Order: sequence, then structure tokens, then C-alpha cells
Amino acid sequence: MEKILAGLLCCPDCRRDLIYARNEEGTGTSGMTCTGCGRIYDRSDGYLNFLNGSGLIYRSRRDKFIRSVYARTYTPVTNFMFLFCGGAGSARNEVLSRLKLKSGAYVLETGMGYGENFLWLKRHVEEINLFGLDIQGEMMVNCGRNLNRWGIRAGIVRADAEQIPFRDNAFDVVFHLGAINLFKDKKRAIGEMIRVAKPGTHVVIADETEKAGRLFNLFTGPSEKIIPPVDLVPDKMQNITVETIWRGYGYVIEFDTV
Ligand SMILES: C[S@@+](CC[C@H](N)C(=O)[O-])C[C@H]1O[C@@H](n2cnc3c(N)ncnc32)[C@H](O)[C@@H]1O
Ligand SMILES: [Zn+2]
Repeated sequence: MEKILAGLLCCPDCRRDLIYARNEEGTGTSGMTCTGCGRIYDRSDGYLNFLNGSGLIYRSRRDKFIRSVYARTYTPVTNFMFLFCGGAGSARNEVLSRLKLKSGAYVLETGMGYGENFLWLKRHVEEINLFGLDIQGEMMVNCGRNLNRWGIRAGIVRADAEQIPFRDNAFDVVFHLGAINLFKDKKRAIGEMIRVAKPGTHVVIADETEKAGRLFNLFTGPSEKIIPPVDLVPDKMQNITVETIWRGYGYVIEFDTV
């Protein structure tokens, strides 16, 4: 999987090829170097890190605290929140059943968290190649642990969904579940999903609606009104739809790339 992953990666800054970097002793490999701009992307805790000092943006100290607790207690908290949406199984099913999965497909999830969707995907189509990225270190470590526990192989990297370190046209399925509302530049994140998808890929993007946002605000403090970012999908994409899911607590945007 590491070899396949390396073949799909590129520099998130200049998009040129990456090569394995030698560690300080000159033995083995410790990370990857860009053949264009020379940036070095380190490997630590078992994953490659493509963040250039950037990370999650927090609205306030309270927001930062709540989100760091959430990162450590992700699965039970998410499963609890999904109870409002009809239960975790049905909520994930409502989104993931829309992916046009085929045996042998290369699948990318942006913001994969603890990797719970990979478990669903492997149960439904065994012969798929899974890849994911996430901006938070805790998520990377816990996703890696889960994948080992579940016996699932997936190529995961730490990166920003707004600057994806994968090559153009690399994936047959690209999806996102659960964070785009908080992205700094949603248009750029959607553009990146399109760039790394092959032409004709069905892209699926889901997150909470304003109805759920009002509940979260009780904990994290006030936030901007949530508007599903369907207007940010370029007009030239095909079959663009937006639908309410999760008993009104979620939305899902779908389209086909050209
Ligand atoms: C609510 S969780 C959902 C995780 C997973 N998709 C799931 O369905 O269980 C949102 C995830 O998006 C990640 N995230 C937030 N902003 C991100 C960004 N700009 N780039 C990549 N990942 C991001 C968070 O670290 C978190 O793991
Ligand atoms: Zn570069």
C-alpha cells in the first residue's frame, strides 16, 4: 500500500513529483522531498505530514478546547450525535450508499477522522483501494490504530483538504463527510476534490445543516449560519444535486466531474 500511495502523491504546493528522502544518517527513508520546490515532508507516528505548519482554525479558545476533547473521544461522541440522525449505521449509510463504488476503485475520503467510513466501505466492496487525509494528528493516529485493529489497508496522510497532496485524476470515487462547514475556503476544497478525481467521478459531500449547527452552538459558541455550499460547485459539473438527510440534520451534495 505504501508503494501505491507514494505513486499517487505529489507536492501540495507545486504539484511536482516527490521522492523518498533519506534520514540524517543517510540510511533508510524518513519522509519525502519535492523534486520541484525542495520541500521536505516528514514521516512521524507512522504517517507522512504535508501540513506546512497550518492546522485546524478555531473560532475561540472554547471551540479549541471542545474540539480537542472531541478528537480524543470521537467515536462515542459521534455515535451519540448520530442518534439524532437515526443512528450511526443509518446516517453513514445515507451518505455512503450514494458513492458509485466498483471493485478495484481508488477511493479518497477527505477528512477521514478515525476511519469509520473505511470499515463501511470494505464491508460493502472488498476489492477497493482506500485513501484518506486528515488535518489533525490525533485523527491520524487513531485512524491508523483502527485500521490495524480492523485488518484494513489504507493509505492515509496528514494534509489539508484545501491543498490535497495527490496527483490530478488519481481517484474513481472522492467523498467528504462532516467538516466542510468549518473549512476556511470551501470553494478551494471542492476544487481540489474535483482535481484529484478522474473525469466522470461521482463526488459526494455531506455535512450538518443549520438545524444541527444550532445544537452544536450550545457547546462551541455562535457560528455563521450554515448554507450547503452547492453554489460553490463549478457550473460545468454534471448532475449537481443537494438534498436534506439525517432527519433534517444533514445535507448531501452530489455531482459528476467532467
Ligand atoms: C466530524 S469529523 C468526520 C470524520 C469522518 N469523515 C467520519 O465520517 O467519521 C471531521 C474530520 O475532518 C477533519 N478536518 C477538519 N478540517 C479539515 C481540513 N481542512 N482538511 C482535512 N481534514 C479536516 C477533522 O480533523 C475531522 O477528523
Ligand atoms: Zn513542491
